[in-house]
Amino acid sequence: MTDQEKQEMVVTPWDVSGNIDYDKLIEQFGVQRMTQSIVDRIAKHAGYKHLQLRRGVYLSHRDTDWWLSEYEKGNKVGLYTGRGPSGHVHLGHLLPWFFCKYLQDAFDAELYFQMTDDEKFLQRDDLTLEQAIEFTYDNALDIIACGFNPEKTHIFSDSDHIQHLYKLGLKVAKRTTFSTVRAVFGFNNSDNIGAIWHPALQMMVCFLQSEREGENIPCLIPAAIDQDPYWRITRDIAEKMGYYKPAQIHAKFLPGLDEGGKMSSSQPDSAIFTTDSPKKAAQKVMRAFTGGRDTVEEQKKLGGRPDICNVYAYYYFMFEDDDQKLVDREAICKSGELMCGTCKKQLAERVKAFLTDFQEKREKARKVLDDFLLKPVVK
Ligand code: TRP
Repeated sequence: MTDQEKQEMVVTPWDVSGNIDYDKLIEQFGVQRMTQSIVDRIAKHAGYKHLQLRRGVYLSHRDTDWWLSEYEKGNKVGLYTGRGPSGHVHLGHLLPWFFCKYLQDAFDAELYFQMTDDEKFLQRDDLTLEQAIEFTYDNALDIIACGFNPEKTHIFSDSDHIQHLYKLGLKVAKRTTFSTVRAVFGFNNSDNIGAIWHPALQMMVCFLQSEREGENIPCLIPAAIDQDPYWRITRDIAEKMGYYKPAQIHAKFLPGLDEGGKMSSSQPDSAIFTTDSPKKAAQKVMRAFTGGRDTVEEQKKLGGRPDICNVYAYYYFMFEDDDQKLVDREAICKSGELMCGTCKKQLAERVKAFLTDFQEKREKARKVLDDFLLKPVVK
């Protein structure tokens, strides 16, 4: 691959790579840009403005303002998100889940958390169904470790919990034509029919809470923008099926430790996994791409470039909650006072502390896993 090709932006539900141009994405996907008013309304209900809201991690949405209005009228609202369990969880996955937990607390909302082990099995040649299902339960520990409310969180495996999903999935499938999914996802004649069916199962979760509770409940999906095509086609059928259109709020991707693209499981050195030992994670940080200059002299003279620095991005997205301290770090980087080695070491320490704490929570999650799994509706 040439450098040019490597940098080209690709964003589909299965592939995210290259330098990501969010303005272009907003235009391509035809979504609405995030507004200050939405940010302020969420913060008001939560009681504080989450780091990710302050830093513009949520760049676009569909109908989040409507979802908020429903809540403000006193109506119940719900949340839906998911994960394709094809491997261990890394920090890029945790980022939107932290935000989801913030939303769950703020809006006292039920959260339906889909694990698409079926999708990962159907799409990948290197994963057996049994392995994908195993990752569902492994990854569920990470989800629980984020602190979700056990009474209001329903994690489910598409394959193990299909009895709670199939009927509604069928109703969605009947409304969705092959020509639509082919146009949206680019299926062709050599794709297996399981992969072609799977969108129905990912779409139906938008209506699952409404179906289970027997009333129409506005659903908001916090997700990365690459999943938007699913919701676009769900929105087209929702009202015909008697449900509200699902609302979305889209997150930016956490960059990988290497240059460009997002943190990705398929490039293990570019990602910090929650199962990495704190020591190993620290080593990955020390090898990360920075905006530093080639020599110390140049760095002192010209300063670093936080705008292209992945280490800075980690402080920005996750590891520096204090806005003033972040601004200060940026300033001493740009002035040439802060060297990349020091900055990386400081980040490595924070990552280590974070992982040590998270891994404890993750271990504790084993005992309560069952409380979080989707149960039959009690009528
Ligand atoms: N398809 C997603 C993935 O591969 C998993 C997923 C299912 C999801 N439902 C979702 C992601 C809802 C976000 C929101 O990662």
